[in-house]
Amino acid sequence: MTTTGPELLRQRKEQGIRIVSLTAYDFMTARLEEQAGVDFILVGDSLGMAMLGHKDTLGVTMDLMIVHTLAVSRGAPDTLVIGDMPFGSYEASDELAVASAKRFIGEGEAGAVKLEGGDVDQVSRVRAIVSSGIPVMGHVGLLPQSVRRLGGYRIVYADQRERMLEEALSLEKAGAFAMVLEGMEEGLAKEITESVAIPTIGIGAGRFTDGQILVVNDMLGLSGEFHPKFLKRYAELDISMVHAFSTFASEVKNGVFPGVEHIYSPRED
Ligand code: KIV
Repeated sequence: MTTTGPELLRQRKEQGIRIVSLTAYDFMTARLEEQAGVDFILVGDSLGMAMLGHKDTLGVTMDLMIVHTLAVSRGAPDTLVIGDMPFGSYEASDELAVASAKRFIGEGEAGAVKLEGGDVDQVSRVRAIVSSGIPVMGHVGLLPQSVRRLGGYRIVYADQRERMLEEALSLEKAGAFAMVLEGMEEGLAKEITESVAIPTIGIGAGRFTDGQILVVNDMLGLSGEFHPKFLKRYAELDISMVHAFSTFASEVKNGVFPGVEHIYSPRED
C-alpha cells in the first residue's frame, strides 16, 4: 500500500527526498495537483486573498474553510489534504481548537490540520489536538494571521534565532508531525531544519528546508502584480485566461462561435 499520510512526509525527510506541496481551494485544482503527484495539499487560509479578494486572511471563517476543504478532499482522494485553521478557530481555548480540528476531519474529510504560531498557548493547542488523535502541522516565522497586530508582513531574521528555535522545538515536542517555515532568512530556516527531527516545509525560507510549498494562484501567475522575491511563477495563466475570454467575446460578437460543428441539426430518423 502507498503511504500518503503524515508518515509519507517523515519517510521523505529520512530518505533525504524533498517534499512537494501546493495550496488548493477547489475540486479542479486538487484533481490536477494529485495528477502531478504533490506529496500533500494545503487548503490554506490564503483562500481569503487567492479566491475571495480579501486583503488578508483574517476574514476567513471555519464554515468557508470546511466547504473548500471538502471540495479539495474530493478532488484529491489519494493525497494528504491539510486544513488550515483560520483566525478565531483555535486561539481562545484548547477545547475550541479540538472542536474546530474535528470539523476539518469530519466535515472536510482532511487528513490533518495546520495552525499558526509556536508561543505557549499555540503549543498547548497543538498538544490538545494531537491528543485528540488528529495530526497537526505547525507554522512558525512570518505569521499572516498576525499581520494586523504586527503592522505588516515581516520577514524573520537571525536576530530572532533563539525564539524561533524554541518555538520549533516546542511544536515538535507537542507532537506536530511537520512544520511550515514562512518568510525567514535562509540560514535560520536551515538551522531549524537541522535541529528538529520532523520535516520542515518552506515558503520564502530558502533552499534548505525539507520541502517547499507555494500558493497555487501565485505560482500559476494568477495573482496580478503580487511578485515577492521568494516567488517563482511557473505559468502566466492570467494572460492565457484573458486571451481565452476576449477571443470568446469577439467570436460571439462576430458570429464565429458557435460554428456549424457546434450545433445540433434536425434528427434524421
Ligand atoms: O494559507 C496558506 O496558504 C499558508 C501557506 C503560505 C503555508 O499558510
